[in-house]
Amino acid sequence: MKPLHNTRKYRLFQGQRDLVRAYCAVADLGLVGGFKLTGWALWRRMLRRVLRLQDQMFDRRHTIQTEGDVELNHLKALHGDPKHSAGYEPMHVAQFPHLMATIPEDLNDFTFIDFGAGKGRAVLLAARYPFKKAIGVEFSEDLCHRMRDNIASYSNGPRLCPDIEVACADATTFELPPTPCVLFFFNPFNKPILIQVARNIHTSYSANPRTIYIVFLNPKESNGAEDVFGQYPEMTKVSTKLERPPFSIISPWRGIVYRMGK
Ligand SMILES: C[S@@+](CC[C@H](N)C(=O)[O-])C[C@H]1O[C@@H](n2cnc3c(N)ncnc32)[C@H](O)[C@@H]1O
Repeated sequence: MKPLHNTRKYRLFQGQRDLVRAYCAVADLGLVGGFKLTGWALWRRMLRRVLRLQDQMFDRRHTIQTEGDVELNHLKALHGDPKHSAGYEPMHVAQFPHLMATIPEDLNDFTFIDFGAGKGRAVLLAARYPFKKAIGVEFSEDLCHRMRDNIASYSNGPRLCPDIEVACADATTFELPPTPCVLFFFNPFNKPILIQVARNIHTSYSANPRTIYIVFLNPKESNGAEDVFGQYPEMTKVSTKLERPPFSIISPWRGIVYRMGK
């Protein structure tokens, strides 16, 4: 059966809903304000389609399958308590180069770690850069299987990182390697888990001071990432690039970047 959102009836309904929304916007905000708001909403919708198309092409081109959200209650064989977790939703491929542009480092000594790696899209994108190692930490065994399959079948693309690992574990139990690191979070869990993960990062840093970047996508909806990381004086906010254009134009989510060490 065709998914509901692909049917003609649904599209017609959406079109009618857009017209009503545009009418209300003009009635509330006047002609200029109404057109601005409507234009912005249309731009966001068009953008989402383009980003998804590019994501689908990424999967097809590299013979992998990272598309397809998985709701939290459909995730199987979990290695931790899902109470404060999010389900699977992959980042957009187009966002990744923007994240990397906030890290002005020679990456050869760095390990990239995706906390809540899902099917491994961000890990595979990181493996196109010369990181020493890329690790995907994921607490659902099903998603770990998928990530392993994806890593094995990835083809037709650059792979400058020689070592990719899947760590099937709860993020709170994962121990950082002693190398400089880039830690990536795309809205994996809420504050209670983040507090524990931030504590682990801080403990690892105190035992072995080194450069650690924390790239956090979608901080607002993730319940206070800024509160959590902001309370450690060693974690300094280093880039606001992900909070403003061009990133904020192409991305439905905002990001923040912290650095520890030199
Ligand atoms: C929004 S998805 C992000 C996927 C991936 N990072 C990307 O950008 O494509 C969040 C992922 O975090 C995982 N997750 C949630 N809580 C977790 C936890 N406590 N430990 C490890 N992974 C977790 C979920 O299973 C899900 O795959």
